[in-house]
Amino acid sequence: MLGRRAARLARSPSQICHAQALNFSSTAAVIGGGVVGLAIARQLSLQPGSSTVLIERHPALGTETSSRNSEVIHAGIYYGRDTLKAALCHRGKDLLYSLCDRHGVAYRRMGKWLVAQNPAQREALERIHALCRDEIGVPVRWVARKEVDERGEGVRAEAGALESPTTGIVDSHGLMLCLRGLFEEAGGVVALSSPVMDIRPLSGGASSLPGSAGWEVDVSDGPGGDISTITAETLVNAAGLGAVAVHNMIVPPSERRRLYFAKGNYFSYTASRPRISRLIYPAPEPGASGLGTHLTLDLAGRIRFGPDVEWVDDPNDLTVNASRLQEAVAEIQKYLPAIDPAALVPDYAGMRPKLAPKGAASATDKSFQDFYIKKEDGYEGWVNLLGIESPGLTSSLAIAEMVQRLLHGQASST
Ligand SMILES: Cc1cc2nc3c(=O)[nH]c(=O)nc-3n(C[C@H](O)[C@H](O)[C@H](O)COP(=O)(O)OP(=O)(O)OC[C@H]3O[C@@H](n4cnc5c(N)ncnc54)[C@H](O)[C@@H]3O)c2cc1C
Ligand SMILES: *[C@@H]1O[C@H](CO)[C@@H](O)[C@H](O)[C@H]1NC(C)=O
Repeated sequence: MLGRRAARLARSPSQICHAQALNFSSTAAVIGGGVVGLAIARQLSLQPGSSTVLIERHPALGTETSSRNSEVIHAGIYYGRDTLKAALCHRGKDLLYSLCDRHGVAYRRMGKWLVAQNPAQREALERIHALCRDEIGVPVRWVARKEVDERGEGVRAEAGALESPTTGIVDSHGLMLCLRGLFEEAGGVVALSSPVMDIRPLSGGASSLPGSAGWEVDVSDGPGGDISTITAETLVNAAGLGAVAVHNMIVPPSERRRLYFAKGNYFSYTASRPRISRLIYPAPEPGASGLGTHLTLDLAGRIRFGPDVEWVDDPNDLTVNASRLQEAVAEIQKYLPAIDPAALVPDYAGMRPKLAPKGAASATDKSFQDFYIKKEDGYEGWVNLLGIESPGLTSSLAIAEMVQRLLHGQASST
């Protein structure tokens, strides 16, 4: 049963893997090989005497949401002081810049402007400014009208602009490669092509709670229907769009949850003018569930616009809906009038895992939906992560510290 799995793992050239490891008396199993699962697995592998396995359903790591986002290192200016999103984004940003410096992952700290065109948007910027200054201590500064005209590269900001100088972009693939390397160097094992099908918490340890004697995780070995079982002392659910399904494998029917999906379509800009050298975000609109169709840059300086917000039923619906271009153009022209609509072409789309349906959650209203990261009561050794949408990439290293603290009481320094 384990033979086939061993062969598959060993085929991967960078794989540190011994067939014995596949008997999996592992100390931790992390489900989900996106940037968050990778960061957690790497963090847990630093725990002395640990053996961590990272379980991913696809034949490669990071092919879902972690490679379909804006790659922005956010400053965390949209979330209230007492939210996990703010705390983890702030800590995560610092950890991320420092990891990139130490390990040569490409990034650029080019800053961003939030631009307002009307009094309502201006008010939104003033609220963000006050929050940053008085509550969360994130640097922001007002950009004077003259500076918008002189340095703004044609960006329109009728009612003002606020700069976030610590915002940047990162090569998310480079980051994931780096984390994988660090994880494997520390003895971690990556199990690819291993969709988790079922999970059994074992009881019988000191507390007799489910999980007190560890966890059994069944993974499919391929279309033949063979199943391998991985056992671990602790279990981390970081399965992104699949995390609620994983959650539902563990809890009783009355505690099952439902996930909702909001697609973000991106359009790339194929003309060479205008040239923009920083990120541009419209001021948040009350009730919006994304950050507005903003202008982002890749490390080569190419402009793309997005993501918009399109609620869909199927998380696999990742084709760019080209008929949304019209609406995007109207949004973009408000802050960048010189844009040539003919040069906008559909690029890619990403999918937000939403814990609440359309209308219920937004960045500004009271039903704000925070990250769900908990060591679950009533079980032993299970950390559950749900709804890890933006700023999950920025927060990933801080999330990893938090998970280690939840499981072991303290985070090893990285
Ligand atoms: C449109 C968009 C733009 C974004 N922009 C930004 C941004 O600019 N900055 C930022 O900080 N954040 C951004 N985010 C958020 C960020 O991309 C995510 O928070 C982050 O990538 C989540 O990582 P993850 O590892 O939790 O999830 P994923 O990357 O989705 O990884 C989860 C993994 O679990 C695997 N999996 C699922 N179910 C199973 C199973 N049953 N068995 C085995 N494996 C399973 C999946 O195959 C997947 O590889 C954006 C998100 C979206 C959608
Ligand atoms: C694309 O978006 C349009 C406009 O929002 C919407 O009416 C349509 O249903 C979407 N099409 C698909 C295939 O999802």
